[in-house]
Amino acid sequence: MRNYAVIGDPVGHSRSPGMQNAAFEHYRLGSPYVKRHVRPGELGAFVEEARRTLAGFNCTVPHKSAIIPYLDEVDPKALAASSVNTVTVREDGTLAGTSTDGYGLEMALETNFGRPLAGAEVCFIGCGGAAHATSFHLAERGVRTIRLANRTLSKAEELAEKLRAANPGLAVETALPSDSDTLARWFAATDFLIQATSLGLRETDPAPFDLGLLRPGLRMAVFDTIYLDTPVLRKARQAGLPAAGGAAMLLYQGAKSFEIWTGLAAPIDAMRAGMEGNSS
Ligand code: ATR
Repeated sequence: MRNYAVIGDPVGHSRSPGMQNAAFEHYRLGSPYVKRHVRPGELGAFVEEARRTLAGFNCTVPHKSAIIPYLDEVDPKALAASSVNTVTVREDGTLAGTSTDGYGLEMALETNFGRPLAGAEVCFIGCGGAAHATSFHLAERGVRTIRLANRTLSKAEELAEKLRAANPGLAVETALPSDSDTLARWFAATDFLIQATSLGLRETDPAPFDLGLLRPGLRMAVFDTIYLDTPVLRKARQAGLPAAGGAAMLLYQGAKSFEIWTGLAAPIDAMRAGMEGNSS
């Protein structure tokens, strides 16, 4: 059997090998999934090698967008989002790319909060890779409104234009995260707040917006795409709001990749244990 890989720069921290190998082992298919440190300048050489030697690979930072020109086929939603995290190498060496990040977020919201996406009002803080990779999928799943707050307003406006073009019925608004009046108004009408900046990984990081806006009585559930417990999640819990971190998103995006590659049902419990480093 050919191997699978996750490529990134850095890649050492990736939990994908533990999670994916737990799934392969569940089906007695060995441990074919490896980590590969691929720097930006090495992507072309890696792709040529992958065509001959791999069955599939995941892309993480900084390759999710850069991989696209190398692919023979990209699904339209991933192309609109300019973000691919799952590549299948076909028998003839051609490459098909898609993104499972949006599905991962959808399942994380569903399993943590048990609320429907259809008709929901969603607010993203941050418009980088995470928001691009997931917002098109949420739009496709029938959310009514997407509000985008980003420090660099032009990036929020660019993403908003693309979302509107791909989803004619969708309402999209933009603002700066420092505009607390607008955020307070948005939060009063938000079902899901998605923290999608890179802030919160380090204790010294500034808050991505005024956390005093997370008040008791809001109807919104708060999700942080970061894997750890973050100040945003702690403040949300203090305010009595439902809150969850990025672990479930990581789990379900990986589960979908496994299903795309193998056609087998993802063994979720085994994958969760593998992701958390508890697999035997
Ligand atoms: P990733 O792939 O991790 O999403 P990214 O694409 O560089 O990384 O996006 C990082 C996100 O965090 C962006 O929304 C970024 O805001 P800008 O678009 O203005 O750069 C946000 N971010 C990072 N550092 C920030 C900071 N110190 N203050 C506010 N937002 C920040």
